[in-house]
Amino acid sequence: MSDQSVNPVVKDITSETVTHPEYSAHEKVFLITDEASGLKAKLCIHTLIEGRALGGCRRWEYDGDEQWSADVLRLSRGMTRKSAVAGLPLGGAKAAINHGNPTKDMMRAFGRGIDMIEKKYGMAYITAEDVGITEELLMEVKKETDHVRGITPAQEGVELSGGDPGPFTAFGVFTGIKVAVQHRLGKDNLEGVSVAVQGLGDVGYYLCEFLNEAGAKLFVADLDGERLQRAVDEFGAMPVDPKEIVAMEVDVFAPCAMGGVLNDTIRASIVAGSTNNQQRDEINNVESKMLKTGNILYAPDYVINSGGLISVYYEGESRDRVMDIIGKQVEMTLDKIFAFSKSENIDTATISDELAKKMLQEKKSFEDIVSDRVAA
Ligand SMILES: NC(=O)c1ccc[n+]([C@@H]2O[C@H](COP(=O)([O-])OP(=O)(O)OC[C@H]3O[C@@H](n4cnc5c(N)ncnc54)[C@H](O)[C@@H]3O)[C@@H](O)[C@H]2O)c1
Repeated sequence: MSDQSVNPVVKDITSETVTHPEYSAHEKVFLITDEASGLKAKLCIHTLIEGRALGGCRRWEYDGDEQWSADVLRLSRGMTRKSAVAGLPLGGAKAAINHGNPTKDMMRAFGRGIDMIEKKYGMAYITAEDVGITEELLMEVKKETDHVRGITPAQEGVELSGGDPGPFTAFGVFTGIKVAVQHRLGKDNLEGVSVAVQGLGDVGYYLCEFLNEAGAKLFVADLDGERLQRAVDEFGAMPVDPKEIVAMEVDVFAPCAMGGVLNDTIRASIVAGSTNNQQRDEINNVESKMLKTGNILYAPDYVINSGGLISVYYEGESRDRVMDIIGKQVEMTLDKIFAFSKSENIDTATISDELAKKMLQEKKSFEDIVSDRVAA
């Protein structure tokens, strides 16, 4: 199955990365290069559980090595926390190909690199889609390694999970919005609840579909005119200038586009969306504390957007069962985080980070850590 035209080199660059501010005790950091195809990929393995770590691969044209490392290290660390809170027995990792438009050869070389890392270091990195990586490109990776998730399975009768994680992520976000509305507005349904959705891509589009079915009043923005029009036509959503969507006075602001979106112009009662790394200053939870001061309920990004990861883990199982798992997991976790935040008067991101940290340190489930906290 192996294609001899790709011949990547895998370099362990952990020791060169330890001084990076985002390093955060990674297990290993690798650089995979392939001269013939031009591949340059960084693969960060933050933690391993039973020798495995999962996290998508993104492609991006980075503005220098520093930005490239910062992005992939931060995302990789976030995957450890996301997996733990989602109740999955997987370590966290992430890869980033530094290229605007990776070729099939690059993807095959990347796949071969993953295979080489498993053979040499005994670390099974499992890859999946992230920004800019399509299923078609993942198929190329799969030619060289079995450690690929997110390929649509052959469907026979019953609809199976797998392929595009967007609808699963969207369902988790939809569930999270319902939990937040219940906590903040005391409503058991979304009828008439106003939601501003920023970004109508893989997640935002499906989120609008769920929200529209539930009777929410939709305001939408996207930089892409076609995507915007589709949401207007299909869901009767009100189009909004992308510059104005963040500061709209609505019940819920649902960011589903790019990171670093939280700021002091937000006037919604709730912030609950799929965007990764919504805070600029994640370490100190500055933006989350600011939202708390403004009495805005924030659903921590890595909790509410875990649906895609859960679907990738349960790939090949019935779609209904996986949706059910996602709904229950997101509901249970956010419900506890919101309740602790209220009773202890601490912002939701700090509570969430504390619970995740304890789970990892004490190797306990979310439910056990929650029981310990209630008992304390
Ligand atoms: N796809 C998933 O399953 C998944 C899972 C977890 C987290 N996320 C995160 O959710 C976010 C959205 O993911 P996606 O897969 O839908 O991405 P996507 O690339 O499919 O869609 C993003 C959309 O946002 C729009 N956009 C970008 N900047 C904007 C702005 N300033 N204002 C309005 N629209 C803007 C783009 O035009 C695009 O249509 C990302 O942060 C991603 O990391 C996605």
